[in-house]
Amino acid sequence: MSDVESWLAALEERHLANLTRSELTRALRALSSCYVERRDRLAQGAALEGAGKRAAFALFYGPLHFLTVSHVVRALGAQERTLREIVDLGCGTGAAGAAWSLACNRPPSIAAIDRSAWAVQEANWTYRHFALRGRAATGDITRMPLRVDQRSGILLAYAVNELSREGRAVLLEQIIDRARAGAAVLIVEPIARRGVDWWDEWRSGLISEGARTDEWRFSTPVPPLLRSIAKGAGLDPRELTARTISKI
Ligand SMILES: C[S@@+](CC[C@H](N)C(=O)[O-])C[C@H]1O[C@@H](n2cnc3c(N)ncnc32)[C@H](O)[C@@H]1O
Repeated sequence: MSDVESWLAALEERHLANLTRSELTRALRALSSCYVERRDRLAQGAALEGAGKRAAFALFYGPLHFLTVSHVVRALGAQERTLREIVDLGCGTGAAGAAWSLACNRPPSIAAIDRSAWAVQEANWTYRHFALRGRAATGDITRMPLRVDQRSGILLAYAVNELSREGRAVLLEQIIDRARAGAAVLIVEPIARRGVDWWDEWRSGLISEGARTDEWRFSTPVPPLLRSIAKGAGLDPRELTARTISKI
């Protein structure tokens, strides 16, 4: 069994213990609708409210983000850059940060922040599962100083969109400042997201500091567990797609 397969099996055991498959399917529908149609409630943390949506996130979106970020890191050649640590902002279950670290020739440690105590607990479990040096803690990424240097990589995977407009503005200033100081930056978001008005501002702010933007489509087979969970909820992830702003 590969590392990813054993992680998926462990996730299934962990999150399907108290949930039937149909409850999971219903929860995944509700969660997906939160991301696509009810974005106004994201800044209040609506996506991770309730056991069903949390399980759906951990079992479906977490692994999808892990696979996507693994591919993006390799496509950017980011695994070649020697980093001391990855600072994963809005880490969720830790999937994207773990993917970046594991893709590196020498896996850096991970310092992660999320406002959700549940997510923090899951992220710490993820690091232990992959034997990574990582620690997640609770906090608000729009209200803390970003202490990183040129040996750090800042990761914002599927997180910027959940911030308030004011919070995003504060964070962008810090990210630009840290990119200028030499930190690596990777921002990942879905391609097909409606109403993302902040993207252009982030893109031009970071391009001025030497960043690049990309749209990615990886036609790699999605693992059977994810396909079957997705199918039940009317989703069809045939390929992994993302857009990124990066400075590696
Ligand atoms: C869609 S999830 C993405 C999680 C993870 N980065 C991934 O790729 O799977 C967005 C995460 O951002 C967190 N988040 C949203 N606003 C935040 C804030 N102001 N401070 C810290 N975390 C925040 C949420 O709790 C959630 O776990």
